[in-house]
Amino acid sequence: MILVLDFGSQYNQLITRRIREFGVYSELHSHKMTAEEIKEMNPKGIILSGGPNSVYGEDSFRCDERIFDLDIPVLGICYGMQLMTHHFNGKVERAKEREYGKAAITLKNENVLFEGSPTVQNVWMSHSDKVIGAPEGFTVDATSPSCPVAAMSDAERKLYGVQFHPEVRHSEYGNHLLKQFAFDVCDCNGDWTMENYIDMEVEKIRELVGDQKVLCALSGGVDSSVVAALIHKAIGDQLTCIFVDHGLLRKDEADSVMRTFSDGFNMNVIKVDAKDRFLGKLEGVSDPEKKRKIIGNEFIYVFDDEAAKLKDTHFLAQGTLYTDIIESGTDTAQTIKSHHNVGGLPEDMQFELIEPLNTLFKDEVRVLGSELGVPDEIVWRQPFPGPGLAIRVLGEITDQKLEIVRESDAILREEIKNAGLDRDIWQYFTVLPNIRSVGVMGDARTYDYTIGIRAVTSIDGMTSDWARIPWDVLQKISTRIVNEVDHINRVVYDVTSKPPATIEWE
Ligand code: XMP
Repeated sequence: MILVLDFGSQYNQLITRRIREFGVYSELHSHKMTAEEIKEMNPKGIILSGGPNSVYGEDSFRCDERIFDLDIPVLGICYGMQLMTHHFNGKVERAKEREYGKAAITLKNENVLFEGSPTVQNVWMSHSDKVIGAPEGFTVDATSPSCPVAAMSDAERKLYGVQFHPEVRHSEYGNHLLKQFAFDVCDCNGDWTMENYIDMEVEKIRELVGDQKVLCALSGGVDSSVVAALIHKAIGDQLTCIFVDHGLLRKDEADSVMRTFSDGFNMNVIKVDAKDRFLGKLEGVSDPEKKRKIIGNEFIYVFDDEAAKLKDTHFLAQGTLYTDIIESGTDTAQTIKSHHNVGGLPEDMQFELIEPLNTLFKDEVRVLGSELGVPDEIVWRQPFPGPGLAIRVLGEITDQKLEIVRESDAILREEIKNAGLDRDIWQYFTVLPNIRSVGVMGDARTYDYTIGIRAVTSIDGMTSDWARIPWDVLQKISTRIVNEVDHINRVVYDVTSKPPATIEWE
């Protein structure tokens, strides 16, 4: 295992990620970890990440300096290298300006991290301060036009530092460098797989939970489904899932979730049929924010009611991902996020949290889900908002309008899948913009609703572009929707990116 200590760089999540990609387990932890805690963890190597601070800053992040005496190889990246330099009395220069972007480094000395890579190579720099004098005992192994010490090492003590970011793809041989560190310096063997991860987590969950009971809010989304499957593997019937059907799900979704988990996995799943409760509260409400608030609150009340019936349950399982924690970016991130995933559960719920996915990225969770036997339709499910179809029926919600969205959405999904586009498009759905227009069908005038198709490509949902769906696929979707869905006489395609639009229409 390689331990990465977090000093706040935006790239931190990538370091562990890259290392896991070549079969070495890696975790990111707070820079506040003590030498004792690290020893207990027994990592084969430590990476000190980059970060926004200066070693001269009063409140800068530090690490327990005894880590350099643990006889564990250390690689300092950017700020990590500056910290190491400062600790060993080398010279770190305060920044006059920031260096950001591509730079060419030239190798000057033997350094196992660069073995097999070219003497001149492109790297990605993103720093303010820089090391200008390596500490005693270190050799300067690479320089760049702006950094007299772009890489340094004390091979004897297995201490290494690089000013650039090897974890970023723009560093051409960055992956190679991390591999060299893991295999050649730290002697890792690269046999970590998702199967090992499952075994490890199952063991951890069993140990933590003992004979207590665990509750999980199952939404049918990737994260909560994989968490449920993993915990179920560990403790079987000690897990109870609550699945709230708010009546705003897509066609067949509730049945499919129940089929998969209750029948397929033989899990205890309590399906709460709360359709009337939700739709009752939403009656006559057309303001998007009010709709969202009502749904969020109602979810809490329903969940709370059901959870209260399960008196002897001690733990609450959540599908918090690694990125969720990192994005929040603080030591308290876990607490902030812990209430987020199940729609903001109340503070006074007396559960202890279990978050077994909180070291994984989304695509790793998908691999884990497949390994656990979670079906593809869930593992590869597109994001679906908590408020569900309520924010895709613009304005006031009625049963009829929900039905229109549900049916048209089902057609869209089927055709996107038939066209083999379902894994390329980030999200695709239909919306009912609540406008009616004139059409002609079978020689008769119609005055009916318009359906909007929204399909976007994105990496994280923060920004997006509209998907270039082939015309013939769009044509088929349009024809089917108009022919098969009652009260639709027009189909439009949303060709707006985000920003300025958002992905959802409400
Ligand atoms: P927007 O519409 O803000 O959506 O561009 C970005 C992504 O977030 C999803 N989304 C939500 N997810 N609860 C969720 O769990 C919500 O209230 C919510 N609103 C939007 C949206 O589907 C898209 O993937």
